[in-house]
Amino acid sequence: MEPRPTPTTVVLVGPMGAGKSTIGRLLANLLSLDFQDTDQMIEKRTGADIPWIFDVEGEAGFRERESAVLKEALALSNLVLATGGGIVTCEENRTLLKQTGTVVYLTADIDQLLERTARDKKRPLLQVKNPRQRMAELFKTRDPLYREVATLIIKTDRRSPKLVAEEIAQKLNN
Ligand code: S3P
Repeated sequence: MEPRPTPTTVVLVGPMGAGKSTIGRLLANLLSLDFQDTDQMIEKRTGADIPWIFDVEGEAGFRERESAVLKEALALSNLVLATGGGIVTCEENRTLLKQTGTVVYLTADIDQLLERTARDKKRPLLQVKNPRQRMAELFKTRDPLYREVATLIIKTDRRSPKLVAEEIAQKLNN
């Protein structure tokens, strides 16, 4: 049998607003892979949305659910998996991601990330007085963690999701 030209699990990591879900769907199409999103998996399993989970179970409860769905998703194959921005904060998750083979870190500058998340009320960590400061703090602590697990780093700044997905597909096929 011919070897597959592309890896069979591609994980997208990166901050809120980097475009993981939108680009992930397009990339899955280009590579003829399935698409999953850890946030959506959590909401489906829980029967509640993310703000509710943060409210009732706190961030710690959400992180437990996130680690569980990550394991579940990585047991599948032929998949593009978009992950929540905080998935890398758990060491066990990072270990799993590093064993995955293909992890793409999608990044953008803080202005872009804020622009893309400004109207969204569904991200509990950004419902603060100063979202810019929060975004910058999260970026500072998490950027090294994304880099630790990444096999490919892609800047999404001011580019259409379609172009970014095509760039990733091309790099993965080479
Ligand atoms: C989070 C990012 C969110 C979601 C939750 C927490 C984070 O996902 O998992 O609100 O800690 O950065 P997106 O990165 O898809 O917005």
